[in-house]
Amino acid sequence: MYDVVQKNAHRCVFLLNLLYNKAMELTRYEKAKAFVYEQFAKIHNEPLRIAAISHTAMVDSCVTLLAITRSISVEKAKIAALFHDYAQYIDNCAHSEHARLSSLHAHQYLSQSKEFKVYEIDDICFAIAQHSKKELFDSPLCELLKDADILARFLENPDKPPTGIRRQRLIDALADIQT
Ligand SMILES: [Fe+2]
Repeated sequence: MYDVVQKNAHRCVFLLNLLYNKAMELTRYEKAKAFVYEQFAKIHNEPLRIAAISHTAMVDSCVTLLAITRSISVEKAKIAALFHDYAQYIDNCAHSEHARLSSLHAHQYLSQSKEFKVYEIDDICFAIAQHSKKELFDSPLCELLKDADILARFLENPDKPPTGIRRQRLIDALADIQT
C-alpha cells in the first residue's frame, strides 16, 4: 500500500514539473522582447537609452490595444513594435533610414531564431519598413503600427498634438478604441 502511494506521489511530482516547465517556456514575443531590451540596456547615451525603452514600451502597449480592437494578430503586432525604431536607437542612424534599417535588424533576428515562418517574417518586416510613411495606406499590420506609433507619441507628449494626416490617424485610432 505504501509503495502505491509513493509511486503515485512521484508521478504527481513528475507531472507538476512537466506543467511548470511548460508554463515557464518563453513565448516568441517574450524572447524577442528580452533580446531587444537587452540591446537597449547597452546603449551608452542615457537620453537615447531612455527614449529607446520608453517609446518602444509605449508603442508595444498601444499596438496591443489597437490590434485587439481591429482583430489583428497581437503577437505579430507586438514583435513589430519591439523592432520598429530599433536602428534609430542601436545605430543612432539618420531618421530617414531608420525604418528600413530597423526592418533589416528585425529580419536578421527573426530568421536566426528559426521560430517564424517566412510569411510572418515578411509581414513584420514590411510593417516596420513602411511605418514612417504615415501619408500612405498599406496592409492592416502596417496601418496598425503607424497608428500605434502616432498614439504613443501623443500619449508621451499630449501638449504637442499631431497635425495633418497624423492628427486624422490619431482621431481614427481613438475612435476604434472607443467602439
Ligand atoms: Fe520610427
